[in-house]
Amino acid sequence: MNYLKANKIDPNLIKNSIMGPNPAKLLEELMNRFPLEAGQTIMDLGCGQGVTSIMLVKEYALRVFAVDLWISASENWQRFVTQGLTNQQIVPIHEDAHTLPFAENFFDAVVSIDSYHYFGLDKAYLGKHLLPLVKPGGWILLVVPGFHHDIHADIPEEMLTSWSAEDLDTIHDAVYWRDVIEATKGIEIVSIEEMESNEECWQDWLKTENEYAVIDRAAMNAGAGKYFNFISIALKKK
Ligand SMILES: C[S@@+](CC[C@H](N)C(=O)[O-])C[C@H]1O[C@@H](n2cnc3c(N)ncnc32)[C@H](O)[C@@H]1O
Repeated sequence: MNYLKANKIDPNLIKNSIMGPNPAKLLEELMNRFPLEAGQTIMDLGCGQGVTSIMLVKEYALRVFAVDLWISASENWQRFVTQGLTNQQIVPIHEDAHTLPFAENFFDAVVSIDSYHYFGLDKAYLGKHLLPLVKPGGWILLVVPGFHHDIHADIPEEMLTSWSAEDLDTIHDAVYWRDVIEATKGIEIVSIEEMESNEECWQDWLKTENEYAVIDRAAMNAGAGKYFNFISIALKKK
């Protein structure tokens, strides 16, 4: 894929602030497939250090509420200001995905890159905590790390050079995710599919000096990459 927008993002921001396989490239593939309209109000849920939030403002002209649990609002705000953004364009929020402080029917869309698997595997989560905040007709657009086929019953040895079985607990295939999502009423499942972006996103991540990237290198160098993909989940609120 040719990442026209992700490649415009400040390379130092990518190098220092991504928290997993290049989320800017994952976001670009998602947005190519499911475009949002400039000016819409969206939540970037589990935004981490805000790389995708910055891209959603700069490259897609969206108004963004950037929500994360592990990264403080002050830290993200400083990064947003450094990137030239204003509080009219972006609002950092330090909050858990289970206690989102927003009005019902507030968002045109929710985007979440590489974080929904931490809380969304609970079948009750979507209907209880997220769906009410989206306008009827609005989108929920998710990217989760996945497997081509679930391998929990027999984890390949190369995986265990970097991760324990427990570390891989939240990684599943598209069939598994469909079962999770189908438990929620009031949505149209537009698609749940494997993405094209994978290899290049991993390479960008493994090149960083993030301590988790350093841990991931052993398994990926041993060939664990062939089991992984990313899965996009596109839902419309009825
Ligand atoms: C692997 S990082 C990805 C961050 C960012 N999207 C990126 O790709 O660089 C996962 C993110 O999920 C967030 N997260 C995990 N559990 C969460 C929860 N219960 N509520 C909100 N965010 C959560 C973490 O704070 C973390 O920043």
